[in-house]
Order: sequence, then C-alpha cells, then structure tokens
Amino acid sequence: MTNVANRAPVKIGVVGLGRLGKRHAQNLAYRVPGAALVAACSPVEEERAWARDALPAPRLYAEYEALLADQDVDAVWLVTPSSLHADQIVAALRAGKHVFCEKPLSLDVAECERVLEEAQRAPHLQATIGFMRRFDPSYRDAYEKIRRGAIGRPFMICSQTTDKNDPEGFFVRFAPTSGGIFLDCTVHDIDVTRWLFGNPRAKRVFATGTIALHEGLRECGDVDNGVAVCEFEDGRLAVFYASRTMAHGNDTHTEVIGTAGALAIGHIPRASRVEIYDEHGVRNECTPTFFERFEDAFLHEAQAFVESVRGGKASGATLADALEATRIGSALREALATGQPVEL
Ligand code: NAI
Repeated sequence: MTNVANRAPVKIGVVGLGRLGKRHAQNLAYRVPGAALVAACSPVEEERAWARDALPAPRLYAEYEALLADQDVDAVWLVTPSSLHADQIVAALRAGKHVFCEKPLSLDVAECERVLEEAQRAPHLQATIGFMRRFDPSYRDAYEKIRRGAIGRPFMICSQTTDKNDPEGFFVRFAPTSGGIFLDCTVHDIDVTRWLFGNPRAKRVFATGTIALHEGLRECGDVDNGVAVCEFEDGRLAVFYASRTMAHGNDTHTEVIGTAGALAIGHIPRASRVEIYDEHGVRNECTPTFFERFEDAFLHEAQAFVESVRGGKASGATLADALEATRIGSALREALATGQPVEL
C-alpha cells in the first residue's frame, strides 16, 4: 500500500553525467512522475555545461561531497565509474539519502558486504542497484509466465549480452575500471538468471574467452568474447556469452528452458517492426546499443524507484541480489584468469 504521507516529490541529485548519466538525468527531469531533479554532480566542466543547457536548472556541483551536503536532496542517483560505487553508496546512506546506483554494486565482494552492513543500519532508506533488465516489458512478461508455471520447472538458461563492435575501442579505455567483460556485461545475465530461477545459490562456475579483435585488452587481462557456465545448488544451469565485437549491433537475448516448454526473450534484436526489402534480401535493422534496446526498462526502473521512496513497494534488485551477482561475476573472472573451475 502506498503511504499517502510520502506523496511529496522525491528530490533527486544525479551523480555522473557521462554516457549513461545524461540519459538517466533526462528521464528523471522529464519522464518520471513524482521525481524532481534538483541537483547534478560531475567533476567535468563540459558535463556541467551540458546540464545547464539540457536540464531544468538543477543545482550543479563539481564534488560529490558538496551534493551530499545539500539538505534539499532526498535521493542520489549514481551513474559513476563502477570502482566508485561502494564508497559513494556508503557516503550517501550516512548522509541520510536514498540511493539508486548503476550496476554493478562493486567489483569486489568484500566491498559489497560492507555496503550491505551500512544499509542494515539505515533500513528506512531505499537502496537499489540498476539491473534494469528486470523492468524490461518482455523480461517481465517472461518472469510472470514462469511464475505461473507456463514452461514447467525452468532448469536451463542461455543468456547473452553482446555489443556492437566499436572500432574506436571505447571499451578498451573503459576496461581497466570495468572489472572485465563478466563483471561489466555478464553481470546482467547473472542477475536476470537468478531472478528468473527464483534466486538459487551458485555452486560452481567455468569460464573461458578469446580476443577476436581488440589486442589492447590483453594488458588488463580482459577478453572481447567470453563464455561461461554456472551451476546452481539445485542442479540448474546457465550458459552465458558476452561479446564486444558484434558486427550487427547490440544483441541481448535470453532463452529459458523448462520441463514443459521454453521461452525466448528478444531472440531477434529488431530495432523496430519495419522489414526492409532490398538487394540484400528481407531484413530488419538491429538495436544499435544497449540504450535503444532497454530504453523503456531504464524509464520503468526510475519510475519504480521513485514510487518506492514515496511509500510504494520496492521492486528492483536488492543490495543482496547485487552482492550475489558480483560474487558470481568475480568467480567467472577468476575462472577466466586461471583456466580452472571455481567453487562458490
Ligand atoms: P562514463 O565514464 O561515460 O561516465 C562516468 C561519469 O562519472 C562521468 O560523468 C564522470 O565525470 C563521472 N565521475 C567520475 N568520477 C566522479 C566522481 N568522483 N564523482 C562524481 N562523478 C564522477 O561511464 P558510463 O558508461 O556512463 O557508466 C557509468 C556507470 O553506469 C558504470 O558503473 C557502468 O557499469 C554503468 N552502466 C550500466 C549500463 C546498464 O546496462 N545498466 C550500461 C552502461 C553503463
């Protein structure tokens, strides 16, 4: 039940105005009922200049501590490099702010545990991690169908997150702070698998990978294509594939196999329902990036978080879910580095 006493707008400060932060800021400013984007923070002057032009006059800060000291901010919205998340969430909770933070919670399991301990001291504050796939209409439909028993007992998931190749190698520069392909990309597949399976614990993982195009990744021990298998305690299995080198676009999809049927979510990554008939044959254009594929999901997760701060039910990934995703992602990174299976 929604608490009527909490129906005041949620005053939000967005932190990080990079590739994704700008998108979140525009959603919060213009597309989320009950949200008021009152502040924004970036250490980069050009990003603050963008905010002056593109957003409805938020108070601008170059330093995170200054935004936290703003008494007129109820919630912070962290879209900063993954290596900063844990410290920034802890600081926000200590400042008495609700927190939305982009994935992953942290690249380090002990850091995740530290955040959970801090959050336990502030149960009145909402804290969630942006595993937005849980809010994608197709993933949610699949989730509801599985709950209703539509495919019997789901026992196997094959899930992939693959990005269009960027010849400029943006992610080669991004790789050293990203945690590697499994903690950066596969972490979504891990979260969605746990969610669709009903949160079993992982038991053992295997992983391997290759560099198909981007030799620059070798220096930080990363790959541009990775494959992994995750075994869960109850015998269920997941197979994950992550890639940075797709020719056709962002191709994210998931297949769930059960004892009485199977579901495929987004199997053909169509950008729209337009078919093109030309000298190449009959074809669809592909979703170019994760943002076009998950535009609705980003918006719905923002609406859900604001609703939870206003007294509604929390419906996103909890900090505990995010900890499990980092635990499995870290084990995959170790399996890739050592070439050995890793027990959890
Ligand atoms: P980015 O590098 O484009 O942006 C990072 C932003 O953080 C920049 O605005 C930078 O100025 C700011 N920043 C850096 N240090 C800061 C500090 N100390 N205090 C405040 N701001 C600071 O990175 P991008 O691609 O926007 O990613 C940000 C986060 O979003 C990452 O954690 C990433 O994993 C996540 N992400 C999630 C996606 C999803 O599918 N849910 C997709 C892409 C990114």
